[in-house]
Amino acid sequence: MKYALIILVVLLIVCGLPYRLGITRYHLSSARVKGELRICVMSDLHNDYYGKDMEKILKPIEDFSPDLILIPGDMVGDYARQNAYKLLKALGKYTTFYVTGNHEEYQKDPEGIISTVRSFGIHVPESTSEVLNIRGTEVEVGGIRCPHEVDKPTAEEVKKIFRTDAYRILLSHRPHWVDLYDECGIDLTVTGHAHGGQWRIPFTKQGIAAPNQGFFPKYTDGIIHLTHGDLLISRGLVRHYHRIPRLYNDPELIFLTVDKK
Ligand SMILES: [Fe+2]
Repeated sequence: MKYALIILVVLLIVCGLPYRLGITRYHLSSARVKGELRICVMSDLHNDYYGKDMEKILKPIEDFSPDLILIPGDMVGDYARQNAYKLLKALGKYTTFYVTGNHEEYQKDPEGIISTVRSFGIHVPESTSEVLNIRGTEVEVGGIRCPHEVDKPTAEEVKKIFRTDAYRILLSHRPHWVDLYDECGIDLTVTGHAHGGQWRIPFTKQGIAAPNQGFFPKYTDGIIHLTHGDLLISRGLVRHYHRIPRLYNDPELIFLTVDKK
């Protein structure tokens, strides 16, 4: 009986390991969009390795052919940076926006990281925004660097970033500031940070723990429809966070299409 239980536990762990990169597809509609927007979202790579030249991530992106790539932080970690930089450099050929996560901000040189990422041609908004025209749709993309939890910005500070009536997108690392995002009324807020709850109860979407949310966190993935706008939470790409593997929670690349309502 004892051995059967041990075998069962080992099997449960082995079956839940993060063997593959999951592709999650979402669809949204907006009256501000003419035609279709194709958006790729990724976060929380933490320097993980995805094949030579990071092709396991780059190939599906090339096939999807996004108009925009949005990266809400925690890509560059606190040790070897070559995987993150290799990926970000390759993403410079797309229209890509990136903001820092807490892990970039906790390092000695967040300014150096930002400057390196910008050198790849990637936009790094710092409480600023840029207006783009994508096949006739005006899109305003803004972002905030990841502050400490206690330095959460006010809705007024976030609203000031935007200046148009375009389809507005906010990049912000922390997903659990739902009340803030709801108050801001941004069309789409893109976040990461929670890693899907790291371990999930098998065959459910319930994560075990996430930073700033504790055990059985509520905001770890998916799209949450707010009073005005939507909150998207990326589960992230890192497979072994501080050598602790994900369980029943594959790393994730998101392909979102937004079309005319
Ligand atoms: Fe992270």
